[in-house]
Amino acid sequence: MVSCIEQDSLKNRRSIYGLGKLSPSINGCLEDSIKSCLLHCPSPFNIQSARIVILLNKQHQLLWEKIWNNLKKIVSSQRQKATKEKIDSFANAYGTILFFEDKSSLAELKKQFPLYRKNMKAWTQQANGMLQFMIWQILAENNIGASLQHYNEIIQEDLYSMYNLSKNWELVAQMPFGSIEKEPSEKTFLPLEGRIKIFK
Ligand SMILES: Cc1cc2nc3c(=O)[nH]c(=O)nc-3n(C[C@H](O)[C@H](O)[C@H](O)COP(=O)(O)O)c2cc1C
Repeated sequence: MVSCIEQDSLKNRRSIYGLGKLSPSINGCLEDSIKSCLLHCPSPFNIQSARIVILLNKQHQLLWEKIWNNLKKIVSSQRQKATKEKIDSFANAYGTILFFEDKSSLAELKKQFPLYRKNMKAWTQQANGMLQFMIWQILAENNIGASLQHYNEIIQEDLYSMYNLSKNWELVAQMPFGSIEKEPSEKTFLPLEGRIKIFK
């Protein structure tokens, strides 16, 4: 008798915005888990073009300070307070995982497989999304909350100089993570009817 596939862990992964600090004793396991995701995540033609930067403690704080400093110059005066509160909620977290795509890998892939060149960018972005999900899921399974953010244009240039990163690394997403201080609000679901078809 085949038992049903475990699904509860999927339900437990949510976007958590009320985040707090974790004990630094988690650092070693966290690093190992993220490395493992990076190693085992599938990618088109096994190109492995995803790159990760993990920011903890002062560096995590600095990232969100910098994002706010850049953001406040372009946010309307009416939105300043709410935007600052949102950025502060990310700064309150324990750390941030930055996801990048290495553009030189993509260029190489296009050269190697010219037939698929039009699809390559989408495929590498899809693989990056899979990596984001793997890490998000593993964090959730360890009772660590996270959300997915996209301040890419606001912060990318600063990251190159702050961390001496290659300009081939294109920023894809930011994932602040930490202790779960506030449960997420109830999620709504579209009916599955019409979203999936099964033929037997
Ligand atoms: C590709 C992608 C991009 C997202 N971008 C953002 C974002 O920029 N900011 C944000 O707060 N949440 C973002 N989210 C989170 C979604 O809003 C969230 O996953 C969705 O509302 C379902 O809620 P859940 O994560 O709690 O299941 C993103 C999610 C995905 C998959």
